[in-house]
Amino acid sequence: MLVYLNGDFLPLEQARVPVLDRGFLFGDGVYEVIPAYGGRPFRLTEHLRRLNHSLGAVRMEAPLENDQWRQIIQRLLDQRMGEDQQIYLQVTRGAYDKRLHAIPEEVHPTVFVMATPLTPRDPALVEQGIAVVTVEDIRWQRCDIKAITLLANILAQQSARDAGAHEAILVRDGLATEGSASNFFLVKKSVILTPPKSNHLLPGITRDLVLELAEKADLPWREREIPVAELREADEVWVTSSTKEVMPVSRLDGQAVANGKPGPMWKKMDALYAEYKAQLQQRLKDSGHE
Ligand SMILES: Cc1ncc(COP(=O)(O)O)c(C=O)c1O
Repeated sequence: MLVYLNGDFLPLEQARVPVLDRGFLFGDGVYEVIPAYGGRPFRLTEHLRRLNHSLGAVRMEAPLENDQWRQIIQRLLDQRMGEDQQIYLQVTRGAYDKRLHAIPEEVHPTVFVMATPLTPRDPALVEQGIAVVTVEDIRWQRCDIKAITLLANILAQQSARDAGAHEAILVRDGLATEGSASNFFLVKKSVILTPPKSNHLLPGITRDLVLELAEKADLPWREREIPVAELREADEVWVTSSTKEVMPVSRLDGQAVANGKPGPMWKKMDALYAEYKAQLQQRLKDSGHE
């Protein structure tokens, strides 16, 4: 399997990064995860926009133009022609002689991209819904940046695993913000609700798509702050991400969500999502590119 590292395509086993890389020393970098269906990246424009936002927010120049990213990504995907895959893309601030916090005057970033097979969602979990727990959000104030520094997310995810659950929903000052690696939605009286974008959550590409699909299908939706107590009263809870898509939540902190089964609004949204994916694939196939 070839990966991309700093201008070269080389076998994964040969890809090496110096130990003084600031990504390794400080977690000084940003990343993206982009799904690809039938060998075509999904919502790539949106992912590249978010990447450029993350880079700007941590004061890094974009190391490549969008067209260059596109070419690299397609070349990596073409190794498994037509298969569902996921792109992992990471940019760190690079390696220097000294370990100093301050940003070097001249930056030589480390750019790494790989494509791996996409693990499909577990059909049993999609059918039953997943269990989630709520945990305190101990992260920093710039959760809108997709930073590689993920310790707090790792600890939250592990708290979920320790409780036999699949995801943790983070709570800051009594408000539910997002999942450890997902955004969340709830449904109350047939209205789809999710917190507004802010520095306390990652602007999920899947989240935006869900709202877009809700709008197109005339399903009522609103963005507003969600006190954690409302999650417990919800008719439905979902979590979304590029790899989870729209996952129903059937248990929250050990209690059933409503009747403990994925709800009717989730069924509609999951179907709309699948239809959108299928239509997009068809259009891409017809046009020959994204
Ligand atoms: C903290 C966090 N929030 C939200 C998301 C969902 O983002 P997306 O839908 O772009 O995958 C992720 C994805 O990994 C995440 O790590």
